[in-house]
Amino acid sequence: MDERTFKRSNQHASVIGLGTWQLGADWGDVDEREALAVLEAAAESGVTFFDTADVYGDGRSERIIAGFLAGRPDPRVTVATKMGRRVEQIPQNYVLGNFREWNDRSRRNLGVDVIDLVQLHCPPTPVYSSDEVFDALDTLVEEERITAYGVSVETCAEALTAIARPNVASVQIILNPFRMKPLREVLPAAREAGVGVIARVPLASGLLTGKYTRDTVFAADDHRTFNRHGEAFDQGETFSGVDFATGVEAAAEFSALVPEGYTPAQLALRWIARQPGVTTVIPGARSPEQARANSEAARLPELSEETLTAIGDLYDRRVREQVEGRW
Ligand SMILES: NC(=O)c1ccc[n+]([C@@H]2O[C@H](COP(=O)([O-])OP(=O)(O)OC[C@H]3O[C@@H](n4cnc5c(N)ncnc54)[C@H](OP(=O)(O)O)[C@@H]3O)[C@@H](O)[C@H]2O)c1
Repeated sequence: MDERTFKRSNQHASVIGLGTWQLGADWGDVDEREALAVLEAAAESGVTFFDTADVYGDGRSERIIAGFLAGRPDPRVTVATKMGRRVEQIPQNYVLGNFREWNDRSRRNLGVDVIDLVQLHCPPTPVYSSDEVFDALDTLVEEERITAYGVSVETCAEALTAIARPNVASVQIILNPFRMKPLREVLPAAREAGVGVIARVPLASGLLTGKYTRDTVFAADDHRTFNRHGEAFDQGETFSGVDFATGVEAAAEFSALVPEGYTPAQLALRWIARQPGVTTVIPGARSPEQARANSEAARLPELSEETLTAIGDLYDRRVREQVEGRW
């Protein structure tokens, strides 16, 4: 699989990575054996970039990744975790003392002395404008607790503020055929500055696979049941912020655009990966089959102009109005 580089930190990532929120919690039950099988399938398909967070299953996702990597050390692998959502998300909590404590816990969970990449996990907006916060992150690098740091953001405005900081190595943002706003300013700015872009929620929480109907029911402990209207965390994280009924209809139209040899999920992933400025795309997978199929998207033929235009047109007609004003 093709690899790309985070220029500021000189770290590498497979163009399709793996999101591991599913291996923690909030997506119904994924038992440990299945979680390891997902990691195995991804790694065997060429995935070298794994995204996790200290809060996914309160550390379970980090610990499962550690167990997996312990059995197969590979210098090409980059593990990115996140910190900052195990306490109340108020600016006063984003201080060096807390960073060290959170970092100690993640290093224990991941079984490493130095974490490859740590991301602030969607902090409150004022945090992005605080010199003290970024000085504290620089201190974590100086103390050799982390190799590099980045941010995971909700909005394009937050991404642009973070990109202007000199030592931010990566920005993680929602980007998919139902969330195109980052194409206009964020991707060009990141490219110009040499900041890597990690594209998350690439399948709009599964919507873009085209497999759900208006009657699909998700488990009670799946955020696609309990966070549809932003009840537990930012609404944008669930179905990319698109209302479910609209999303199902738009996904049916998206499925009709799929070229031969592609699935709808692979079309979405390929579309994201080809956007200039994207470093890695991190679909979440709940089974080894999903992980393998997602990696395969990196090897499929280039998309035609006709398909690209039709995807843009679908977004403009069905989705743009619901998401652009907010994120
Ligand atoms: N704030 C943050 O920083 C933040 C927030 C959200 C996500 N993330 C990261 O981004 C990653 C990806 O986002 P996400 O997991 O929320 O959403 P996603 O990747 O858009 O969607 C994941 C879902 O898509 C379905 N799926 C995946 N591959 C498939 C395939 N090949 N065929 C059919 N269905 C497939 C599965 O749904 P079913 O379960 O229905 O099978 C899976 O649970 C996360 O795992 C996490 O690492 C970070």
